[in-house]
Amino acid sequence: MKALSKQKSEVGIWMIDAPVPEIGPDDVLVKINKTGICGTDVHIYKWDEWAQKTIPVPMITGHEYAGEIVAVGANVRNLQVGQRVSGEGHLVGMNSRASRAGKYHLDPETKGIGVNVQGTFAEFAKIPAFNIIPLPDTIDDEIGAILDPLGNAVHTALAFDLVGEDVIITGAGPIGIMGAAIARHVGARHVVITDVNPERLALAAEVADVHPVNVANEDLRDVMAKLKMKEGFDVGLEMSGSPAALDQMIDHLVMGGRIALLGVPARPFHFDLSKVVFRMVTLKGIYGREMFDTWHKMLAMLESGLDVRKVITHRMKVDDYAEAFELASAGKASKIVLDWT
Ligand SMILES: NC(=O)c1ccc[n+]([C@@H]2O[C@H](COP(=O)([O-])OP(=O)(O)OC[C@H]3O[C@@H](n4cnc5c(N)ncnc54)[C@H](O)[C@@H]3O)[C@@H](O)[C@H]2O)c1
Ligand SMILES: [Zn+2]
Repeated sequence: MKALSKQKSEVGIWMIDAPVPEIGPDDVLVKINKTGICGTDVHIYKWDEWAQKTIPVPMITGHEYAGEIVAVGANVRNLQVGQRVSGEGHLVGMNSRASRAGKYHLDPETKGIGVNVQGTFAEFAKIPAFNIIPLPDTIDDEIGAILDPLGNAVHTALAFDLVGEDVIITGAGPIGIMGAAIARHVGARHVVITDVNPERLALAAEVADVHPVNVANEDLRDVMAKLKMKEGFDVGLEMSGSPAALDQMIDHLVMGGRIALLGVPARPFHFDLSKVVFRMVTLKGIYGREMFDTWHKMLAMLESGLDVRKVITHRMKVDDYAEAFELASAGKASKIVLDWT
């Protein structure tokens, strides 16, 4: 089968001919129709510090996918050949205290598909049945292929009650933009999204009814005044990984404000924790998606009108992968979906 693999410890990704994976009794074999390119895949492509210390080579990468089940393992009872599916990309153990309490997303042994084990940038992928999410007919394959990052956005946006609240989102990458759409969908009053990239801010305003702010040349206080906001934002969703963005977010929060942190800073940074103390701010780290409540809420919101399709800016054939990865690593795309059919 065709697969995109990290073949060498250097910048790049390579199309290879790989054997179709053999499934175990608790797995299913998925024929991949569409895959999304994630920031993680770009880190692996660029072979940055994180990738060098994390990714075994050779390794088929990719974890955002939609496809169809073509074989099921002997123990699998709840899934059938022919079902359209996507799935959770974090593989968890069942023996930790958290897992035994049903909080699988807190399992300390979590491994990533396409990061620690063979991924889904391939014509076929082996996935544990536990991780499979059947797709309703109303959710097509290209949306199915971006449920993993949409799930990150859902997990972050639903960390705190947003009904009637003023929300600031830092970072208008694909996840920040989807987070903004979710905040509006669940009933936030004002949603302000910040970035320093005008194209990404323009896309944010196309996807959702939000106020885009370019913090390179606009003052957040002016924006707040325009919106008749007096004290500050009630909730912040940090989706840039930028230390400057977090600092700015805290400075524009109400007393007792709440922040959900999804963005991953590239390296440790200096930070004035006293602002968190004196403003009595709550900080909550977010990793992955809750298994499986995030998935339930995500599918339910999509079925009740949440529309994030415009965040997909590029639809390409997998044979054009070189161009796709160039676009992604130059930051010239929001979500890119590759077609494997
Ligand atoms: N915790 C998790 O499980 C998890 C999962 C997926 C992604 N992430 C992280 O979430 C973040 C968002 O993912 P993405 O794919 O949308 O990322 P992205 O890199 O495409 O978007 C980040 C955006 O932040 C913007 N930015 C940079 N400096 C800024 C500033 N000072 N103020 C406002 N915006 C600024 C960038 O211009 C960019 O558009 C990334 O940091 C990613 O690593 C975390
Ligand atoms: Zn991803």
